[in-house]
Amino acid sequence: MTSSPLIELAGITHRYGATVALDGCQLDIRPGEIHGLVGENGSGKSTVVKLLSGIMAPTEGTVRVDGKDVDLRSPTAAQAHGVLTVFQETLISDDCSGLDNVFAGTDGLFRRRRRSKAELELATEVVERLGTSPSILTASPYQLSLAERQVLTLTRALVRPWRLLILDEATSALDLATRDRLFALLQAERSNGRSVLFVSHRMDELEILIDRATVQRSGHTVGTVDRAEATPSRLLSMMDGRSESEHAGAATVTARRRDEQGTAARLCGVALSSDARPFDLDVRRGEILGVGGLDGHGAVALVEAFAGVSLPPKGKVEIDRDGLWSRVRGYRNAVASGIAYVPGKRQEEGLFRTLDVRDNLAMATYGEHSRLGVLRPHAIQQAVRAQMQRLGVVPDDPDYPITGLSGGNAQKVLVGRWLAAEPDLLVLNDPLRGVDIGTKREFYALMRELTDAGMTVVMLSTEIEELLTSCDRVAVCHDHGLEAVLEGDEMTYDGVLSAMFGQAPTLATHERTRA
Ligand SMILES: Nc1ncnc2c1ncn2[C@@H]1O[C@H](COP(=O)(O)OP(=O)(O)OP(=O)(O)O)[C@@H](O)[C@H]1O
Ligand SMILES: [Mg+2]
Repeated sequence: MTSSPLIELAGITHRYGATVALDGCQLDIRPGEIHGLVGENGSGKSTVVKLLSGIMAPTEGTVRVDGKDVDLRSPTAAQAHGVLTVFQETLISDDCSGLDNVFAGTDGLFRRRRRSKAELELATEVVERLGTSPSILTASPYQLSLAERQVLTLTRALVRPWRLLILDEATSALDLATRDRLFALLQAERSNGRSVLFVSHRMDELEILIDRATVQRSGHTVGTVDRAEATPSRLLSMMDGRSESEHAGAATVTARRRDEQGTAARLCGVALSSDARPFDLDVRRGEILGVGGLDGHGAVALVEAFAGVSLPPKGKVEIDRDGLWSRVRGYRNAVASGIAYVPGKRQEEGLFRTLDVRDNLAMATYGEHSRLGVLRPHAIQQAVRAQMQRLGVVPDDPDYPITGLSGGNAQKVLVGRWLAAEPDLLVLNDPLRGVDIGTKREFYALMRELTDAGMTVVMLSTEIEELLTSCDRVAVCHDHGLEAVLEGDEMTYDGVLSAMFGQAPTLATHERTRA
């Protein structure tokens, strides 16, 4: 490996108005290396990414490519140097085909023309290399899952001649199988001398993939470490300044048995697709029921059924309301029954981009904060401040535009809105995607507190680790059926993984259809 960097940031400062997002940032990426960029939510990672992608120019400092000062003043300029970026949010237009999305400018300009056969072949090859069906290129993007949309944005970068591929939490929407394919691809391309800047909160991914890692804390670069030094506890302590031993000993939430306390909600004879086998599933009061499964295998449909967002083609969903079973007939009816839902596609389904942090947080509780139909701003302000503190939203300013929050902080606002509504049943669709590890741990503790007080949680997660550490039981979907419900000793990494691939380790706890 040569020592002259492919790309280098020296003494970079970046301000958004009064907010100093980067201050003295140093980063160098060598040819043929996978370089991790880590740090807590709001520490400046995406700002680094935007500077390297030519989306913004730094307030101060120097960018060098192959040792020469450059001015990456536009995405086109960055691309001319071979810098291609896949962002945290899946930026796909629903107005044109998957293939058009792949070949449109990454600066958002869509030039309509007939796509050539060569383009289709190139895109097909990349999509297949990622283990995805090429049908996503011709389907209407609106019908695609989050993971499939992310495959399109990855393909958009990979069909171009890249030297540095930047992945800003671009793997968080992918399912396990696709992610592993991508990792294999990156490792192969590394041997071809290509480099990757890999931004992730997932320590397991970093451990597998990176050659070196640079750590950011509140806009400063703490340092760069080699692979051997980049253990999770070392990285975490560089990220938050606490000692390594504190991180090594961090407790995980222990699962609790909730069988004595009755059933809070249930699925009866539900099928997740019209030709799948129906099943029953009870959610115990006060439990955190995890839901897992590979993309497209029904896990999303399962949580959406509980939330009334989309009713299953067969069977019924019921919630216990003071001892009486009430059928969930749709989203409004679910909300009125004490069910809250945090969706997975936060930009499209969750956050209101024209509003500030206050309104995004408070909108689910306006009813509580009004008298005779008039909102009480003071009460709202107090509640919002308390909520922001509880979730650690940075910056702690209710007037901040929601679009000015970092990805992880925006996600905290979305989850916080529904926590504040204190639902009986909280349904979460991968709620902590993009949230840093410290905040995740606080969130698990908070969920535990709320479930101890009687709330029930159904939580889809794409991270097996998260299902194991934060849930009491884990329901795994395969092929639109319920493959297994794991608890106690059955809740292992391999157990969940096998069930995801349709090999339930035991069917003992599988809840069969009641006759
Ligand atoms: N468009 C913007 N306007 C105002 N402030 C912004 C804007 N974009 C980012 N910031 C602020 O800059 C800081 C760094 O944000 P950045 O998005 O780089 O963080 P990050 O490390 O990527 O976090 P995350 O892990 O949550 O994605 C944050 O305090 C954020 O609120
Ligand atoms: Mg970010």
